[in-house]
Order: sequence, then C-alpha cells, then structure tokens
Amino acid sequence: MRKITVPEIMETKTNGRKITLITCYDYTSATIVEKSDIEMILIGDSMGMTMLGYDGTVGVTVDDIIHHGKTVRRGAPTTFIIGDMPFGSYNISVEQGIASANRMFMEIGCDAIKLEGGKRSAAVIKGIVDAGIPVCGHIGLTPQTSSMMGGFKVQGKSMSAVELLLEDAKAIEAAGAFMVMVEGVPVSVTKYIRDNINIPIIGIGAGKECEAQALVMHDMLGYNEWVPKFAKKYASLGPQMLDAFNQYHKEVAEGTFPTPEYSYNAKVEGLDK
Ligand code: KIV
Repeated sequence: MRKITVPEIMETKTNGRKITLITCYDYTSATIVEKSDIEMILIGDSMGMTMLGYDGTVGVTVDDIIHHGKTVRRGAPTTFIIGDMPFGSYNISVEQGIASANRMFMEIGCDAIKLEGGKRSAAVIKGIVDAGIPVCGHIGLTPQTSSMMGGFKVQGKSMSAVELLLEDAKAIEAAGAFMVMVEGVPVSVTKYIRDNINIPIIGIGAGKECEAQALVMHDMLGYNEWVPKFAKKYASLGPQMLDAFNQYHKEVAEGTFPTPEYSYNAKVEGLDK
C-alpha cells in the first residue's frame, strides 16, 4: 500500500475519509501493521508502560524512541510513522525541541513527530515546522503531565475548560501543525473543537467526531485484562499467550514435546542402524 501523505491526512478534514493509527514499538509487529490497512503508526512514549515496565511515560528518552523507532521503520517502510517526543526533549527551549525532533526525524526516518501541549508548546511546534518537520499536536489528557491533572482523568468537563482546550487547539493550528491528537474528552467536546479548527483531529478516548482514531497496540490486542474504557479489545492475546506458555511447559514436563515431527530425524552413519 502507498504511504499516506501529510496533504492527504489534512484533506480528511473535508473529504469524509476516516483514517487509523496504532502504536507500535518493534520490528515484528510493524511487519504485520505494514500488511494491514492501517495508515499510520505512532512510536509512542507509551512504550514506557508497554515495553519498558515503567508506570508512566516520563523516563522514556529520545534514544529509546529512536532505538524502537528504527526497528519499526525497518518493518513498515510504507506506513506513515509519527515519532512521539518524550518528556524532557522539548520543554527547555525551542532549540532543544528542534534538535530532538531533527534526531528523531533523521535517525528513525519517521514522517512526522508528535508532542504534547497547546499554547505552552506553540513556539516549539512552530520552530519544528519551520525546520521542515511535520508536527502533530496533542491536547486533552496529556500523559506526560498527567500528575498536574491529578492522574489519568477525563478532561474538558466544564465550559471554561473546554474553551481552554479550544484555545490550545487553535494555537497548535496557528503554529503550523498538520493534525492534533485529542485524548480523553467527552464526545461533545471533540465535536466543538472539531467545528472550530481547520486541521484534522486524531482522537483517542475522544469519541467518533474525529477524522482519525488512535489506539495503543497492547490495549487493542488484549495483552492485559484491564484497559481504559475507550480501548476496544480486538483480540485477547494475553490469555492466549498464557495458555500457550503453560501448554508448552506441560508437554515438556510430560515428555510429549518434542515428537519426531519437531525433531531432525536424518540417519547418522555410525550412530543409527
Ligand atoms: O504514546 C502514546 O501511545 C500516545 C497515545 C495517546 C496514542 O501518545
């Protein structure tokens, strides 16, 4: 499948096309996404939880994103890849943000980068766009600063909060971003923002009033029993893997694996008659 382009993503704002993004962090999974109809991959800093065993996204580094991102790019050469800028890689200065984005763009070979924050990140978004790198914004529930929000909580629950979210979305648009991720807000809030900006919204836990949808791979594949309310499980890999591991252990313990079918049975001169 041909890689979707930034203009084609932006055209979803008006042409009614709905597109899909999934997070991905490794080569083998990327080869499967590449074979699928999904248009976009995010090398998400959610790798902190899904791959690295952290209890949040803070702690993930640019080197982590690049290390995993390179494997994903090798597995998915024609999928549009967005590299997620981790906490600490763009909050010191515009120059620091551009330098981090340059590294991710060049070393992963990704097609765009994403970073969190509305008005507070507008200058760095503009700097990165002016440097020639497409940027996706991210507002609403922003995991990197979730401690300031009192945890992973639904955002935009009062009209004043909704107006601040809209100001953030407009600041991201004015800074030159091609798309904005909206996370963890009620459906009506997404629609309100969508009706008042000119770039597409990619929603995660933001309902269906979006041009694009995102899900974390480990949530939608059902690795863990608990997933957030918005994450539909399209598979139950966790229980299936556990069954497979225990079945393997049982067969080894019982001596029923490996059978001749799973062994090399060539006759060896001097050993076999
Ligand atoms: O890192 C991540 O997985 C994200 C999600 C909100 C898509 O940013």
